[in-house]
Amino acid sequence: TGYVTLDSGYKNTGATKSAITFLDGEEGILRYRGYPIEQLAEKSSFLEVAYLLIYGALPTQAELDHFSGQITKHTLVHEDMRKIFDGFPSATHPMAILSSLICALTGFYPQSVSPDLSPEEMELNIIRLLAKMPTIAAWTYKNNMGHPLNYPRNDMDYCANFLYMMFSFPTEKYEINPVVVSALNKLLILHADHEQNCSTSTVRLVGSANASLYGSVSAGINALWGPLHGGANQEVIEMLEAIEADGGDTSKFINKAKDKNDPFRLMGFGHRVYKNFDPRAKIIKVAADEVLQALGMQDSPLLKIAQELEQAALTDQYFIERKLYPNVDFYSGIIYKALGIPTEMFTVMFALGRLPGWIAQWKEMRENKEPIGRPRQIYTGELERDYQGIEAR
Ligand code: CMC
Repeated sequence: TGYVTLDSGYKNTGATKSAITFLDGEEGILRYRGYPIEQLAEKSSFLEVAYLLIYGALPTQAELDHFSGQITKHTLVHEDMRKIFDGFPSATHPMAILSSLICALTGFYPQSVSPDLSPEEMELNIIRLLAKMPTIAAWTYKNNMGHPLNYPRNDMDYCANFLYMMFSFPTEKYEINPVVVSALNKLLILHADHEQNCSTSTVRLVGSANASLYGSVSAGINALWGPLHGGANQEVIEMLEAIEADGGDTSKFINKAKDKNDPFRLMGFGHRVYKNFDPRAKIIKVAADEVLQALGMQDSPLLKIAQELEQAALTDQYFIERKLYPNVDFYSGIIYKALGIPTEMFTVMFALGRLPGWIAQWKEMRENKEPIGRPRQIYTGELERDYQGIEAR
């Protein structure tokens, strides 16, 4: 009843009150629970940031030890989960496997779908999800490669254990490279939350129907998969590789992106909220330089093409007028590639990073007892007509 305002894409509609992440798109500011992203990326660890987002304060040493101890305890997944992998055709995208298996957790933990969880049950569901997602994510890759699946190593920290499960073989000794661990830690922190973006809004909307945490996060994973959202990090690398294969002429692709008759967009450029710069992109650009240097890959042709593209776009009227700057996805793929992560796993990496944000937002929504999300519409169809039998149509 009454008056409905149309706001396609929710450009100006606040769907919730939230105390988790502050974002100022004009000034390029991003803070988790008040802490600037620059400080967290420099000084914190991914699990500490996860704790901060979910519980609202930085943990004491005892709280962090308890939190990471609990997560470590739950890293194994039910053996029957391995059988689910067998059913997927080998061409299945890892994001499809990830979302399916996260939803499948409801089958292994049926109590998780109850709308009336006690705080302890909610806590256990959160811990399980944080603990098992790296295992499931690494297994999607190992399974697609036809490699043996690695069980988690609970003597390693969160990032090191994930790298171990991804890259080690039972036949070889696996050496952890601290440069790689620290780069992964930073990338995950930078992706950990971003207020009401498409996937997070999805998690909240699905959860608002009292759907389970695992079901809601599974839906968020599918939203993130889209190439205009998290899928952009895979598209960026594919675009840079296409430019390289085409002879490396960046101006040709800049012109394609400007051509309104050409659907091509410069992937990793532009953002719905940041209209000045994306603070995450600034940090990631420096990190990409450092990581490639440390790994002896500073001559990477893709990095060179990315830098040229960025330079060309930043001085081009089209991009300046529309306030299009590199976003978080522009340089993250270059780091992931340098770390040895295959392109089709990039968006899975984004999902691993975004997980604490999804959990924190789902929990906040539940604790605030938000009503079911149910947008209205402006109807543009036929007003009323009489049904006609098929012979009369
Ligand atoms: N290349 C060329 N033109 C662009 C681009 C681009 N990457 N992005 C926006 N534009 C143009 C667009 O054509 C439009 O031009 P005009 O006003 O002449 O019609 C104008 O800029 C405004 O674009 P919009 O699509 O209305 O802006 P939006 O806020 O709806 O979309 C966006 C934001 C991120 C979807 C978009 O910039 C885009 O498609 N970027 C490429 C994909 C990408 O990198 N996505 C990752 C986003 S950040 C991380 C995440 O969310 O996962």
